[in-house]
Amino acid sequence: MLIKLPQISQLPERLVTPEAVYMNRRKFLKSLGTLGIGAWALVNGCNTSAGEQWTDVSQSIPKPGGIYPLARNAKYTVDRPLTNEIIAASYNNYYEFTTDKERVWKLAERFATRPWQVEVAGEVANPKTYDIDELIKKMPLEERVYRHRCVEAWSMIVPWSGFPLSALIKEVEPTSHAKYLRMVSFYRPAQAAGQKTQTWYPWPYYEGLTMAEAMNELTLMVTGVYGHELPKQHGAPLRLAVPWKYGFKSIKGIVRIEFTREQPKTFWNDLAPDEYDFRANVNPKVPHPRWSQARERLIDTGELIPTLLYNGYGEYVAGMYR
Ligand code: MTE
Repeated sequence: MLIKLPQISQLPERLVTPEAVYMNRRKFLKSLGTLGIGAWALVNGCNTSAGEQWTDVSQSIPKPGGIYPLARNAKYTVDRPLTNEIIAASYNNYYEFTTDKERVWKLAERFATRPWQVEVAGEVANPKTYDIDELIKKMPLEERVYRHRCVEAWSMIVPWSGFPLSALIKEVEPTSHAKYLRMVSFYRPAQAAGQKTQTWYPWPYYEGLTMAEAMNELTLMVTGVYGHELPKQHGAPLRLAVPWKYGFKSIKGIVRIEFTREQPKTFWNDLAPDEYDFRANVNPKVPHPRWSQARERLIDTGELIPTLLYNGYGEYVAGMYR
């Protein structure tokens, strides 16, 4: 997804790695699925820059406990196995920390996710700043298995835990002027190395939805994954999941939700308007200017599968775009 980056070391793997090398690495990752966590730590060791001590990625994954695991809502399932959790937790896009997917979990280790407040503001009758745990207690929580399709043509199958955004929207009572939602991530360069060093990005990360999209039954505010609370690399303590859109719409580390009259600007659209539009609905027939969107690579098995219109969620969302 990157543009105008000064150093090649800062480009994501698939944009700088020749395809054959990339494919071999994916095959290797697939074999790790059967070898287990120890082997994974070894691979990460190979990526270590001088002096850096890598610990096992599994230490970054919270244990089940407290309210987790939540009951799974059988309505939202996928006809494929869940993605290997260790691989999902070590292959992330979270530019606040780094553009290197395989190092996000490590660089996010010292990021503090408590205390955490979420401000809900703008065109609403009841603006409010919630403590994250107060919000989680109030909301109807459940687990849902969703497809997750990145614009970079990789994908995974993830059991998210969370609550429908519509539940929060009803509570704050939008005014008749509310036409869009703008969501904003944290800005903490002292804890997020990427925000400190990659000063060419317009931090903090920001995204947006129409009110209809925000109210859609699929739109989930995510607080957990794989039956436990969210690890930091997946966007703890609060992120979005809009599974019919490319992954960059699913903003992580949310601190502010604002109801607006005008369509809000979005991070990637501001950076590269020709490549990333506001809607960003998954569509295999519309190629990215630099690659095809017809197929996607499952991150754990490396299998190439056809990409589906609206990522397979047409029955829930197509009506919004007629
Ligand atoms: N949210 C923030 N705040 N910063 C980011 O860099 N990357 C996006 C999205 N949300 C991003 C973000 C992109 S491009 C993708 S594909 C997904 O997060 C990746 O989510 P995952 O790492 O949990 O798979």
